[in-house]
Amino acid sequence: MSRKLQGKVALISGAGRGIGRALALKLASEGARIVVNDLDREPAEEVVDAIVAQGGEAVACPGNVSAPDFAERFVGAAVEKFRAVDIVVNNAGYTWDNVIQKMSDEQWYAMIDCHLTAPFRILRAAQPVMRAQHKADAEAGRRVIRKVVNVSSVAGLFGNAGQGNYSAAKAGIVGLTQTLAKEWGRIGVTVNCVAFGLITTRLTGSAGDDSSALIDGREIKVGVNPGLLEAMERSIPLGRGGTPEEAADAIYLLCIPESDYISGQTLMCTGGLTGI
Ligand SMILES: NC(=O)c1ccc[n+]([C@@H]2O[C@H](COP(=O)([O-])OP(=O)(O)OC[C@H]3O[C@@H](n4cnc5c(N)ncnc54)[C@H](O)[C@@H]3O)[C@@H](O)[C@H]2O)c1
Repeated sequence: MSRKLQGKVALISGAGRGIGRALALKLASEGARIVVNDLDREPAEEVVDAIVAQGGEAVACPGNVSAPDFAERFVGAAVEKFRAVDIVVNNAGYTWDNVIQKMSDEQWYAMIDCHLTAPFRILRAAQPVMRAQHKADAEAGRRVIRKVVNVSSVAGLFGNAGQGNYSAAKAGIVGLTQTLAKEWGRIGVTVNCVAFGLITTRLTGSAGDDSSALIDGREIKVGVNPGLLEAMERSIPLGRGGTPEEAADAIYLLCIPESDYISGQTLMCTGGLTGI
């Protein structure tokens, strides 16, 4: 049986949990070889093991996407292990909320660094590799389209109280996407965004007051309080948050050959919400 992404090499940041994990398993099930990044080594290696157990190929590249040398390491891992870069998904992220009068510079830059500067650096590092592959394809008379999908949020499209830092970064990634779609068409790369509404992951699961995770050396509150979560779900036309697998499927649509002529777009994956 032919698989849609046979032999493609996909780099996915933040693929140890949630949406990124579901996507890594999905792309691997369609034949892609995966470079699995996560801040935390253990979940990254667990995803590699799960892919290998289902007959696929993957390598872990643990580390913080915000580190200045990360992009070269990430792209370097793909080139060293699989000799190509075909799909890049900038998914790694978390939230660190506060109203603007209480938001520190550290809080502001943490979100800009993770959700905007890191994708910029990763794509800058990937460009020469993708351009060289395109040149080789052109010389051999092949038309091959490669893919970038950046993960945004409804907070980036419509704003969300308490998330000035995150919203600004998630809006910024839409601008970077639209610009690269214009720069990279000539090297055969489509560049799109998926903006999620409420997807049930560690980031947004039902949380007690003390739910937190150690992210980038800081204790960050994760999850949404149960009352607010219920209210959010009631406002969604489909009546519930999406699963990580449903979210991954939206990214998958922009990675497969059927989307080869779609670029510069932001797909909303929100269960029908058209604004917040
Ligand atoms: N869950 C939602 O409702 C929702 C909504 C809109 C957008 N998003 C976006 O989707 C993406 C994935 O989130 P998720 O819901 O799957 O969350 P998640 O917490 O389940 O998974 C995110 C993964 O990214 C990793 N990560 C976080 N910061 C990192 C860093 N600096 N370097 C490397 N890895 C890092 C975490 O360790 C984690 O494993 C994020 O960009 C998030 O902002 C999620």
